[in-house]
Amino acid sequence: MRALETWVIVVAAGAGERLGSDRPKAFVKFGERTLVAACLETFEFHDGIDGIVVAVPEGFETDMSLIADDIGAGKIAAAVPGGASRAESVANALACLPDSAHFVLVHDAARPLVDDALITRVMHGLAEGADGVVPALAVTDTVKRLGPDGAVSETFDRSSLRAVQTPQGFPVLTLRTAIEKAAGSLASATDCASLVEAAGGRVVCVDGDPRNLKVTTPDDLARALELAG
Ligand code: CTP
Ligand code: MG
Repeated sequence: MRALETWVIVVAAGAGERLGSDRPKAFVKFGERTLVAACLETFEFHDGIDGIVVAVPEGFETDMSLIADDIGAGKIAAAVPGGASRAESVANALACLPDSAHFVLVHDAARPLVDDALITRVMHGLAEGADGVVPALAVTDTVKRLGPDGAVSETFDRSSLRAVQTPQGFPVLTLRTAIEKAAGSLASATDCASLVEAAGGRVVCVDGDPRNLKVTTPDDLARALELAG
């Protein structure tokens, strides 16, 4: 029997202001290629992935198809213009998934070092029936909340905190419903799982990977290149 289809949305439509390059972050050079090409290659060659939709900045559709050709990414079904926020970019891409897509993994183009094992862990979590699966790392720093006057108002119990990464996995219908419910407040969501949590879904963690860092600043880019070796 054919397994339920799993599709990937790669969100690559951000400006990359904190990186400060002359082009959107996903299209910044990473070794021989670009940041977005690095993760696309990994999803393309993962056996469990059926198709990919990429959200790109307006006007970058052609750049995206050149990148797809370059890496021989036949699974890329569409490059759609992103929205004003990450969640709106996800919503635009979600609208392009075929009806056959049962699960979706949403991944930041800014995380070039995602690997097969991490993708497989997230897919296993979905197969077990969760409403959402997020790769998570233990928090090693102590985390505090500041009050309105800028002084510390609270210190969290570190043992129950996790820093989460992407790809985050969901049944397509669950993510669609969560995004519809959050329509008015999409701009403030920094990940998809928070939308599913707000809609009452059960989100579980699988082991993240310290190598799977998000490139935000020029220092992160240098670190990711070093790790890519
Ligand atoms: N993203 C997106 N559409 C947006 C905003 C972000 O597709 N409107 C994507 C980015 O391309 C990135 C991921 O969401 O892959 C995580 O966002 P972030 O790291 O904040 O990237 P940027 O928004 O590009 O960076 P910055 O906030 O520094 O401008
Ligand atoms: Mg951003």
